[in-house]
Amino acid sequence: MLRFYRFIFCATLLYVGSADDAKLNNKKFPKNFLFGASTSAFQIEGAWNLDGKTESTCDRAFSKQPSIVIDGSNATVACDSYHKYKEDVAILRDLGVDHYKFSLAWTRILPTGYANEINEAGVKYYKNLIRELKINQIQPMVVIYHNDLPQSLQDKGGFLSPLFPEWFANYSRVCFELFGDDVSYWLTINEPFEVCATASNSGPFVDGIDTYICALRLLTAHAAAWHVYDKEFRNKQKGKVAMALNGEWMEPASNSTEDINAAETRMQFIWGSFAHPLYYGDWPEIMKTRIAMRSKLEGFNQSRLPELTQEQINYIKGTNDFFAMNHYTTILVKAIEEPEISSPNSTADIGVFTYQRDDWLSSSLSWLKYVPWGMRKLLNWLKDEYFSPNIIITENGWADSTGQLDDDVRENYIKEYLSNTRDAMDEDGVNVMAYSVWSLMDNFEWISGYTAKFGMAYVDFNSPNRTRTRKNSSFYFEKVCKTHCLVEKCED
Ligand SMILES: *[C@@H]1O[C@H](CO)[C@@H](O)[C@H](O)[C@H]1NC(C)=O
Ligand SMILES: *[C@@H]1O[C@H](CO)[C@@H](O)[C@H](O)[C@H]1NC(C)=O
Ligand SMILES: *[C@@H]1O[C@H](CO)[C@@H](O)[C@H](O)[C@H]1NC(C)=O
Ligand SMILES: *[C@@H]1O[C@H](CO)[C@@H](O)[C@H](O)[C@H]1NC(C)=O
Ligand SMILES: *[C@@H]1O[C@H](CO)[C@@H](O)[C@H](O)[C@H]1NC(C)=O
Ligand SMILES: *[C@@H]1O[C@H](CO)[C@@H](O)[C@H](O)[C@H]1NC(C)=O
Ligand SMILES: *[C@@H]1O[C@H](CO)[C@@H](O)[C@H](O)[C@H]1NC(C)=O
Repeated sequence: MLRFYRFIFCATLLYVGSADDAKLNNKKFPKNFLFGASTSAFQIEGAWNLDGKTESTCDRAFSKQPSIVIDGSNATVACDSYHKYKEDVAILRDLGVDHYKFSLAWTRILPTGYANEINEAGVKYYKNLIRELKINQIQPMVVIYHNDLPQSLQDKGGFLSPLFPEWFANYSRVCFELFGDDVSYWLTINEPFEVCATASNSGPFVDGIDTYICALRLLTAHAAAWHVYDKEFRNKQKGKVAMALNGEWMEPASNSTEDINAAETRMQFIWGSFAHPLYYGDWPEIMKTRIAMRSKLEGFNQSRLPELTQEQINYIKGTNDFFAMNHYTTILVKAIEEPEISSPNSTADIGVFTYQRDDWLSSSLSWLKYVPWGMRKLLNWLKDEYFSPNIIITENGWADSTGQLDDDVRENYIKEYLSNTRDAMDEDGVNVMAYSVWSLMDNFEWISGYTAKFGMAYVDFNSPNRTRTRKNSSFYFEKVCKTHCLVEKCED
């Protein structure tokens, strides 16, 4: 046994150690390539009930019932960025980033959830943050919605309400109006797939039925916001609007046709459930056939996947001005026998088996393994599938449990994922425009509380000052931001 463990240990060390310069891409990133860092409102701001902000579904789930959080913590203060945004921007400035991806808290801006009443204190907070960024030549990349739905709207049905798209479009209009003169990149909804997959935390939600209604509502809400921007703001503000999609790279477990098809099926269910409608107008064919087939066997007289009308198709198609993607890890996919027919089940609708290799280095989160080559394969798949879009990598990062300053795994992760990105651009012709690290600093990681630390800066959650300290990875990333080069010295 000892021998076995020693072998694993060495293999792990060798693997991580392999991020040596000789194996990394040594071409400079283009001059106009943007480097940045990401956060989200609920995970950093705190001040959940200050200055007129009202309750969101996240406040309800994570701050009022901290029992669901594994360390019993909550986000009522988090990084206290509501008071310390200048410290955040100072780190961003020292890093030399081009942009900062952050989100707006809906209930800080619109306390009723509706666009009938604007909370000036909340608006002032974001205006101050944006001003501070501009002073330091950092572009805001603004997420309109990152998980924190007004509880008032959740109580009226949330994503399942047919009114959701209009609530969202009205909120978005307020955001464009208030902040749009300073924003070139808007992200409407962050990780819609996860939003629907976790919606049962906030209210009644039937997996396999509401999952797809939720997806359609989010797509329609995004499209509605895009149309508002297109009609009312684009001419004068000249920005771009996209949804920020997420997912793993799905690697076939073997070269058998069955496993290759299984991996492709899962790509279409995870990435395609949103990207396919955005680029082609409709759900992926495999989603339509599999869900219709299983629905019928389950006794439904129509598919659980809502059929899109021609009007819906026309409304949604073409509403992604660039391809924003969050990507962290890779998963292996194996074909299996058709899962048993029982009650609706969105996992059984995909109908594949997924796993990861034991010798892939694991982060402090069990799903997040170190697989940098997945980035290159994924970028190629997105290029081939969605007409060579301009891609912005809006999140990518590594978690540990310690928050240690000597974070060489995170440094290597950023290095190797960026090297694969550069390979994809250089050798495969993928159009990648920008890259943001998740995250600027350690923050509140949902049910993992403060046990999973993604930051390039450490935050002392035991101090009322929430003191920020840069980790080693941040010094490496600073070098990349400033030189556009991953190694000691780049070609040309
Ligand atoms: C949230 O955490 C703080 C410590 O940061 C604690 O004082 C407070 O009681 C917690 N709130 C709830 C509702 O548990
Ligand atoms: C959206 O805003 C318009 C104009 O203010 C208002 O008439 C409408 O009722 C709002 N829609 C919803 C669903 O709240
Ligand atoms: C699949 O085939 C390729 C090319 O022949 C090979 O490099 C790869 O290792 C094979 N993959 C698996 C999982 O067997
Ligand atoms: C079949 O679907 C239609 C349309 O949704 C519905 O009106 C009808 O009641 C359904 N019939 C059965 C037997 O469920
Ligand atoms: C859904 O299906 C998956 C895969 O077939 C299975 O592992 C899981 O237990 C099912 N979930 C429920 C709630 O039945
Ligand atoms: C990481 O940072 C620590 C403390 O700042 C320093 O002692 C150490 O040498 C650094 N490690 C590397 C690999 O740069
Ligand atoms: C918090 O910061 C203030 C002002 O910089 C300082 O005086 C104080 O000692 C700090 N408190 C702690 C607990 O670090």
